Amino acid sequence: MSLSQIARSIKGSPTLALTEKARILREKGDPVIHLGGGEPKSRAPIEAIVAAANNLNSGEVRYCAADGIPELKAAIIRYMDEHYHRKFAPENIIASSGAKQSVMIALQAILNPQEEVIFPVPHWVSYPDMVKLCGGIPVPVLAEDGSFYPRIQDIEQRVGSYTKAVIINSPNNPSGAMYSEEFISDIVQFCEKRDLYLIMDDIYHRLIFDGKKPINCYDYAKDKSENSKLIVINGVSKQYAMTGFRIGWTAANKKLVEVMANIQGHQTGGPSVVLQKAGAAALNGIQSDVENLRVTLENNRNVMIDYLNSFEGVHVTKPDGTFYCFADFSNYEKDSTKLSNFLIDKVQVVTVPGIEFGMEGYLRLSYCGGIKDVREGIERMKWALDPNSPNELYIGDRKLVRDWS
Ligand SMILES: Cc1ncc(COP(=O)(O)O)c(C=O)c1O
Repeated sequence: MSLSQIARSIKGSPTLALTEKARILREKGDPVIHLGGGEPKSRAPIEAIVAAANNLNSGEVRYCAADGIPELKAAIIRYMDEHYHRKFAPENIIASSGAKQSVMIALQAILNPQEEVIFPVPHWVSYPDMVKLCGGIPVPVLAEDGSFYPRIQDIEQRVGSYTKAVIINSPNNPSGAMYSEEFISDIVQFCEKRDLYLIMDDIYHRLIFDGKKPINCYDYAKDKSENSKLIVINGVSKQYAMTGFRIGWTAANKKLVEVMANIQGHQTGGPSVVLQKAGAAALNGIQSDVENLRVTLENNRNVMIDYLNSFEGVHVTKPDGTFYCFADFSNYEKDSTKLSNFLIDKVQVVTVPGIEFGMEGYLRLSYCGGIKDVREGIERMKWALDPNSPNELYIGDRKLVRDWS
């Protein structure tokens, strides 16, 4: 079959594929534990559900402007004021069908073929393929010390004449690392100085632990004008547990937002009005759901870290936020895809191979499910990987026997 070069250069989302695999196994009756997921299990805020239902009940669900309905834009403007202390005009904001689309259209708006986009490793699975979809070249950068915390020198060294943009995702999927204030300040100023776009993917910015406060990139920006190349992306998926509502947004200079709206207008049009109403209601509603989720995640993180620390041979860095932990399992198996498949096949625990995030030997484990899943999932993994484990393990009334060494 004749397919485009771009189509042939990208692969499907491994995380979506694993979620589908877990669903199929569950349907077959397998006792799957999904530690590969990327969505909180709590309910969406009630205000969001009511707003969506009201709009549906009206029976008049129509097209809207490509950049979103005024009601959602007003809620986003309020959010950006409250959490970033920046007063934006509606023309600085575009709502999209998830932060995923926000990142995608931002890249489409700024990239020419062969231009490079730098992002720290480990990185969200989608960045390399999104850049390739625009004809660009992804440049993943591992911190020189091998840690999850890049330094400005690491980025600086990779900037060349083809570099167009840097993407920063902190707190980070998959490591949970929240980059230091010093790094954020350095990268904002560096990008300004070098006239590079800086995309801040802040989708997890309030899901942080140990009393940490979100870092606001605008605090370090000197250029507050409409020439600023600072792009902030956020959404309701993670913090409001609204992944299926598909509402994200971008705040950027007016010209860029106009171009992004043109692109989105030809791709999908504005996001579904039903879901935009829900997004606006979540942003305007009582915010206790976000804090409740954050506290639950911090607790789950603590449980996961305790369990992993008792796992001899596994190295973990305590996540500062998100709902992921990126642990080094290379003492057991260097090929993370092989290891992830082994864990699904032998003990029905779903994890995501580190290679998908740019680091081999690691697995991404999510703690967005219940504590029971975290505890049982890691116990099963330990049983499967530790050669000194007892020969048998019961999952409910199902007996597993180790037939591997
Ligand atoms: C780092 C990062 N950015 C963006 C997204 C996309 O979020 P949304 O559900 O709003 O499309 C995700 C989702 O997993 C993510 O982890």
